[in-house]
Amino acid sequence: MIDHLDEDYLRQALEHDVRIGLTATPKWLPPKWFYDEAGGELFSAITRLPEYYPTRRELDILRRHVRDIAALSRADTLVELGSGTSEKTVLLLDALTSEGTLLAYLPVDVDVVTLEAAAARLAVRYPQLDLRPVRADFERHLALLPRPGRRMVAFLGGTIGNLPPAAREVFLKELRATLRPGETLLLGTDLVKDVGRLVAAYDDALGVTADFNRNVLRVLNRELAADFRPEAFDHVVLYDEDNEWIEMRLRATRTMRIAIRALGLTVVVRAGEDIRTEISAKFREEGLAAELTRAGFAVARRYTDPAGDYALTLAIAAHPVS
Ligand code: SAH
Ligand code: TRP
Repeated sequence: MIDHLDEDYLRQALEHDVRIGLTATPKWLPPKWFYDEAGGELFSAITRLPEYYPTRRELDILRRHVRDIAALSRADTLVELGSGTSEKTVLLLDALTSEGTLLAYLPVDVDVVTLEAAAARLAVRYPQLDLRPVRADFERHLALLPRPGRRMVAFLGGTIGNLPPAAREVFLKELRATLRPGETLLLGTDLVKDVGRLVAAYDDALGVTADFNRNVLRVLNRELAADFRPEAFDHVVLYDEDNEWIEMRLRATRTMRIAIRALGLTVVVRAGEDIRTEISAKFREEGLAAELTRAGFAVARRYTDPAGDYALTLAIAAHPVS
């Protein structure tokens, strides 16, 4: 495995994020810290919930259009950001194999347990494939990724929506800068729709998403010797109509003084106060196309399901205009 996240780096990044986030008003924590081993498993459970439609929609769209995507990209290397279990990726790997172009797959994720399990499974299924798992932070290490062959970068699951707009713009520009003209980006995005369905996707009846949300507190307890009581926080989901994003928060059910011993920090969370843990932006066709164009991509194809719930966009790294 190629590893850009040694334990020192991870610890420093976590300490930095927690110190900044929990001393800010309002309090917040960045979503990448949801994903330890337990978090990865909880996310997998989310993708199977009846309320969580994005994974099924994305899979349907991929099934229908994957040959077209493979033929247009003619990639010999698939790089996948936030690859998780790589379940949907199998469709892309098969299609690129049929195209006769595929040589290498580079799954990139922060969660090393899920990454290694996925790589082990794929090694059995694709013995010929040059499989190179990379543990890295796609907001920090894009420039360090190996640059072999003719690449397609897949960024699925609507994960791009978890970046706030300013970070998203930086991310897309950095990604474009690592690509050569003609290389492609396959981007999965959830779309603006009925608010009830959007909220339900993040507030399921079984409480799996609530458990996932609270997992970030368990990560802090373990990694930073903090003493959060996860059960003393309510899972709160709201849809911000102006920004067109889902927001997830943890709301304190009573006033608590929390010691984060590894930081020598004590924070007070008042009854009813929120810690913001995640946004998940919902997109519209024109807005996304404009963002991609600004970052130096040209939209080649846009695929959506019949209900218009979700979109996959195939974008090509454009020639720089001089
Ligand atoms: N692509 C999968 C998983 C989506 S969940 C799917 O579509 O189902 C988001 C994934 O991104 C998780 O596996 C998480 O560990 C990873 N991730 C989140 N933030 C990351 C970051 N900053 N850098 C790299 N991986 C990240
Ligand atoms: N990228 C996924 C999304 O925005 C991640 C996700 C789904 C998620 N459910 C979540 C992240 C709950 C945090 C909490 O849909």
